[in-house]
Amino acid sequence: MKKIDLRSDTVTMPTQSMLKAMAAAEAGDDVYGEDPTVNRLQTMAAERMGKEAGLYLPSGTMGNLTAVLVHCNRGDEVIMGNRAHTFLFEGGGVSALGGVAMYLLPNEDDGTLKMQDLQSAVRPDNPHHPRSRLVVLENTQNRCGGAPLSVEYTNAVGEFAHSNGLLFHLDGARIFNAAVAMGTTARELAAPADSITFCLSKGLCAPVGSVLCGSKEFIHDAIRIRKQLGGGMRQVGYIAAAGIVALEEMTERLVEDHQRLQALSDGLLKLPGLYKYLNPPISTNMLFIALDDSIPVDGAAFIEKMAQQNIMIGSAGPRHFRMVTHYWISDEDVTRTIKAFNSILSSL
Ligand SMILES: Cc1ncc(COP(=O)(O)O)c(C=O)c1O
Repeated sequence: MKKIDLRSDTVTMPTQSMLKAMAAAEAGDDVYGEDPTVNRLQTMAAERMGKEAGLYLPSGTMGNLTAVLVHCNRGDEVIMGNRAHTFLFEGGGVSALGGVAMYLLPNEDDGTLKMQDLQSAVRPDNPHHPRSRLVVLENTQNRCGGAPLSVEYTNAVGEFAHSNGLLFHLDGARIFNAAVAMGTTARELAAPADSITFCLSKGLCAPVGSVLCGSKEFIHDAIRIRKQLGGGMRQVGYIAAAGIVALEEMTERLVEDHQRLQALSDGLLKLPGLYKYLNPPISTNMLFIALDDSIPVDGAAFIEKMAQQNIMIGSAGPRHFRMVTHYWISDEDVTRTIKAFNSILSSL
């Protein structure tokens, strides 16, 4: 029986076309700037994001960290949501490695930060305070249920940041999911940002890698920070080749993952005992559901029962689950998952 892995879109394996491109790739020493495949990927990525330059990195975490370290000095403060990946899931790297403080604002359920909260987070220029330097938004917003942010909202935050002397970084790990969900382009969504990180390795299926994009001057500094963090790689064109295929072939099809997520959500929410606990107005490829009090097992036991049917779902709390659709999840897999939930719930 096929294993269905819904824990994350990070579990995706490369496509056949990626494996072919990897085997045929030309490579060179990328720390010397001599890997033609990496150079091509960086140029393509920058073009897709509407920025002057791009930098290939091992992970989205390193992309966000590098951006914060370029934009901020020690003792500076970055404003972000209390459900931001950079705050919750990146090991506190911006503080641990950069001496940068985080000013957290409540994320609304649609992934946004309120404009009046942003305004009140800007510190006066006074030696008692850290120096406000940077705003970070996440699109799509993972812990708001994969909520996509609109072009209008992102533009408003860019305008707010720049009119207050702040810089603006976008954690666009899933920016192409946001673009297809909002009927726009990654370039439009990234336009107001001074820098953007996006991941090739999630729904786009490349095995490894993210690209950080921004001005030529920003990327010049980012190369030094990447080296300091140990992220300078050598003949990395062999994996960057999969990133090129990701950009060429995998961005527009994300709409299929969103449709399957909707089918999964519709099917599961018809079953008694389940409720959606993160409910963004627009969904992308993530579903956050929980067991209500009528169900006499906890989340860990439920996950184990699903695993016995070769279906893996993510834990997101004591009775809470995350499921993420991606390229390797088919219509049949969605149907089988709904059936498995139904059979377990009815057996309890
Ligand atoms: C919104 C968001 N940003 C950043 C990252 C970090 O990416 P990576 O796992 O490549 O470090 C993730 C990973 O899941 C994410 O969901």
